[in-house]
Amino acid sequence: MKLGCCYYPEHWPEQEWAQNAAHMHAMGLSTIRIGEFAWSRIESKQGTYDWAWLDRAIESLAKEGLHIILGTPTATPPKWLVDAMPDMIAIDANGRPRKFGSRRHYCFSHMGYRKECERITSEMAKRYGKHEAVIAWQTDNEYGCHDTVLSYSNAARDAFQIWLKNKYSDIESLNSAWGNVFWSMEYQSFTAIDLPNLTVTEANPAHRLDYRRFASDEVISFNQLQVDIIRQHSPQRDITHNFMGFYTDFDHHKLGQDLDIATWDSYPLGFLETYPFSEEERNQYARQGHPDIAAFHHDLYRGCSNGRWGVMEQQPGPVNWAKHNPAPLDGMVRLWTLEAMAHGAEFCSYFRWRQVPFAQEQMHAGLLRVDGEEAQGAIEARQAAQDIESIKAQQITDDSSNVALIFDYEAQWLFETQPQGASFQYIWLVFEHYTALRKLGLNVDIVPKDADLSSYAMIIIPSLPIIDDDFLAKIKTLTVPILFGPRSGSKTKDFAIPDNLAPGPLQELIDLKVIRVESLRDGLHYFGTSSNSDDFRIDHWMESIECSAEIIEKCSNDNAILCRNGNIHYLTAWPYPMLLQNIISNMAKDTDLAIVELPDTLRIRRKDNLIYAFNYGLKDIDLSDIDDRWDDRDYIIGSEDIKAADFSIFKA
Ligand code: GAL
Repeated sequence: MKLGCCYYPEHWPEQEWAQNAAHMHAMGLSTIRIGEFAWSRIESKQGTYDWAWLDRAIESLAKEGLHIILGTPTATPPKWLVDAMPDMIAIDANGRPRKFGSRRHYCFSHMGYRKECERITSEMAKRYGKHEAVIAWQTDNEYGCHDTVLSYSNAARDAFQIWLKNKYSDIESLNSAWGNVFWSMEYQSFTAIDLPNLTVTEANPAHRLDYRRFASDEVISFNQLQVDIIRQHSPQRDITHNFMGFYTDFDHHKLGQDLDIATWDSYPLGFLETYPFSEEERNQYARQGHPDIAAFHHDLYRGCSNGRWGVMEQQPGPVNWAKHNPAPLDGMVRLWTLEAMAHGAEFCSYFRWRQVPFAQEQMHAGLLRVDGEEAQGAIEARQAAQDIESIKAQQITDDSSNVALIFDYEAQWLFETQPQGASFQYIWLVFEHYTALRKLGLNVDIVPKDADLSSYAMIIIPSLPIIDDDFLAKIKTLTVPILFGPRSGSKTKDFAIPDNLAPGPLQELIDLKVIRVESLRDGLHYFGTSSNSDDFRIDHWMESIECSAEIIEKCSNDNAILCRNGNIHYLTAWPYPMLLQNIISNMAKDTDLAIVELPDTLRIRRKDNLIYAFNYGLKDIDLSDIDDRWDDRDYIIGSEDIKAADFSIFKA
């Protein structure tokens, strides 16, 4: 794994560039991302380019032997461009324009803006595409950041109508697929269909889901335009895009197929504050981040681009954008870096090189402070660079992960459209399954539903509402334990309830029928005792079933929780964490997976011939207390005693 940073030469006096580059090199950094917000400096007015400064900035990095990832600047269209084309601005769900003055102020569907992006990308790619130091490209920056995928502009409406026409061909098919006879919503033509915002009450869920599918496709085709141009002018360079955390408004699996390498931006403390973790978790992990936040995304994005991935932006200290922005515990920046390596990252790049004294992100830490001195992040980056050197010598074989966890973007949109209970949040259901697997010490690959599943020892599907024929056929060929979660098979592709009820086509594999569902408010629960004698509680969701399959777990009122037919398991409820862990370890008995029950704050990952153990807790951990197979191991870094915010690496 290589280390790097995000650098903005345009923010600093030119006489400091050479010294910056030398300093980066001395710190052990080698891949530097630049350029992604520099449009106004590259082209100060339409057609007036100033490449000279960027040429010199690139040279100053190249002179130190640093490699460059060049960003296309399309996340920040300059003022002159917006003034010339005011309708390129995205429109929010309330019909308000998202104005110039920050970033990402564009609509993915605007044809004029797309042309401008093609133009600036091709100018850049022609100029730097074959430069020796330029080893990769990043398209745009964080598609969707600040909620920018969904736009309700005229451009989006026109494009949506065309998308619908391509999908349904004739308007009768659309009316029938959406069920528009309901509330007299029938349309006479595709051009009569509007975007599903500003309706009196909710718009038809089928209309909304198609709009989400369309909006995702718009991001993918927008990205594709840049990819095609870069490929033409910059052969043999990798193309990436930097994805975000807990962000699902476009299908990253699909977009990833157009990239050479998927990257993502890892801000564990910012995410802990921003996403719905409990107050207890927020306090416990305020300075470390929840132990599964970074790993979940590492494993998710590894599945997005044929296994090649990296961290484009790594939190180096306090950020500026969360509700509270604590400083990481000393050691965490190094730990996060090595956790990326344990999951197979090709590089990890810190955001940003130096804290900038002006504008929106002046309170965001860099590796260097505003005064140019090294901050804590820099000290840890140096250490991480040394760690990586010492591990390199030890790695031998390649590893293979053992459990497949299926994540489906369309399922996320479907459940957002129709949660049926405010707390039914699909990505959290998946995250809780991930946590259960990781607490059992398992390596996990998070994969799309169309992945090849044939080599996995166990397959976990937290929920898959639409089960298509291909997926069903694939599942039929598998003999390993498979777990389906609640609401699987509960919808047709057109967002209707299947005639034979949920789990729809899955009834071919397991004899059960969901006859009633209910969502549970906070404070409304079912209770029970599992087959391992642990008490459990059911929150959020419960299904009642008719079934002749074997019932393995049930609540105290006899409501079935887990049924099984051969290798197929079906969960009728949102599983309580401990219950889920029990279920998974019982399923693993039919496999050769090695289960180790880890304390809440410890995570391990097996990679090559090594085991990496990370302590996310505030107390020391003695590994020999956890598994006696870990006594007296050959430690490459650390020892059996892992201090808070520290890690050990030993031979497996
Ligand atoms: C990312 C973004 C960067 C910077 C960073 C701050 O979302 O890509 O440009 O804003 O956050 O944490």
